[in-house]
Amino acid sequence: MKNIGYAVVGTGYFGAELGRIMKEQEGAAITAVYDPENAEVIAEELGCDVETDLDTLFSREDVDAVIVASPNYLHKEPVVKAAEHGVHVFCEKPIALSYADCDEMVKACEKHGVTFMAGHVMNFFRGVRHAKKLINEGVIGDVLYCHSARNGWEEPQESISWKKIRAKSGGHLYHHIHELDCIQFIMGEPESVIMMGGNVAHRGEQFGDEDDMLFISLEFPNRKFAVLEYGSAFHWPEHYVLIQGTKGAIRLDMANVGMTVKTEAGEEHYLVHETKEEDDDRTRIYHGTEMDGAIMYGKPGKKPPMWLHSIMKNEMRYFNEIMHGAAVDEEFKPLLNGSAARAAIATADALTLSVKENRKVKVAEIK
Ligand SMILES: NC(=O)c1ccc[n+]([C@@H]2O[C@H](COP(=O)([O-])OP(=O)(O)OC[C@H]3O[C@@H](n4cnc5c(N)ncnc54)[C@H](O)[C@@H]3O)[C@@H](O)[C@H]2O)c1
Repeated sequence: MKNIGYAVVGTGYFGAELGRIMKEQEGAAITAVYDPENAEVIAEELGCDVETDLDTLFSREDVDAVIVASPNYLHKEPVVKAAEHGVHVFCEKPIALSYADCDEMVKACEKHGVTFMAGHVMNFFRGVRHAKKLINEGVIGDVLYCHSARNGWEEPQESISWKKIRAKSGGHLYHHIHELDCIQFIMGEPESVIMMGGNVAHRGEQFGDEDDMLFISLEFPNRKFAVLEYGSAFHWPEHYVLIQGTKGAIRLDMANVGMTVKTEAGEEHYLVHETKEEDDDRTRIYHGTEMDGAIMYGKPGKKPPMWLHSIMKNEMRYFNEIMHGAAVDEEFKPLLNGSAARAAIATADALTLSVKENRKVKVAEIK
């Protein structure tokens, strides 16, 4: 098997761990890393080179693909440059903070014939795969409505992460694009959207400038709907995706972790992650003191929890298989060419415009 050489751009909390995981995959080698602050220590650990110029990095013979895990607002340049050098891309979510930027990235990858996989981890949750299979088999009938919540309470911060700054992370909606992407994976793209919200309880020097309460309504063709909540101003934390169909419902609970399928036959319970131990560990973290009011965000040097590590492994394994020539599953094609990620950002941009102009917005206005 030919070795695929991977570069990592951004070796903080996530990039370093994706690099460690990829290094363990069959026929995979990490050849170089790029990071203005943390490159040396991770290069030493991974046994690879440090590069300080993106064109030099992507010109290397031993760089076939790149894992981009820099802060959200800094994804575009490495992705477009990688594409121009014929280097395949795995890019962390959100791929960018505007539809225009996403479009440029998708088109650059298309033009140069490279893969553009988005790091939308929920696609690799065992529970999401299982839910999608049951929906495809008609077990809950037609999906009429989805409801998600991802919220908690944020305490004052000693230092403000870039993840809390709207211009750098996009705020809760863009930074946690997972639930919106998951709902679009299940229901397709909405036609029109509306959002209310704002920063209601986190002003001042110990907080960023993102909105801490967001209430979102999506309207799909054929009278189907979704409601999403996001934020850090909720003292009663919740994290779930609820899927309501004509014959039953599925609840994916990421706080009291587990999956429930409710049909005429009764309720059945399944795992959200790979093992009971992983589900229980996530529940424990959610209810313990390791999270800041259910709002967890990593930083360089920190290690992801067990459940997340396991999904990152699934994700890297899949990307590596594709790099070795495996066919992309039909359902994953939009995930592997950036179009699903771009469609989620189109909706997010329409929602942002909706708050700004205080009106219902058609997603088509954004494209
Ligand atoms: N899928 C998930 O569940 C998940 C979880 C955490 C983070 N992420 C994503 O991973 C990405 C990185 O997040 P993180 O948690 O590792 O953040 P982090 O702050 O821990 O790390 C970011 C790293 O990028 C480096 N950096 C800064 N400017 C750069 C530049 N111009 N080029 C390259 N690197 C640069 C920083 O020095 C730092 O080492 C983000 O896009 C984030 O949304 C995804």
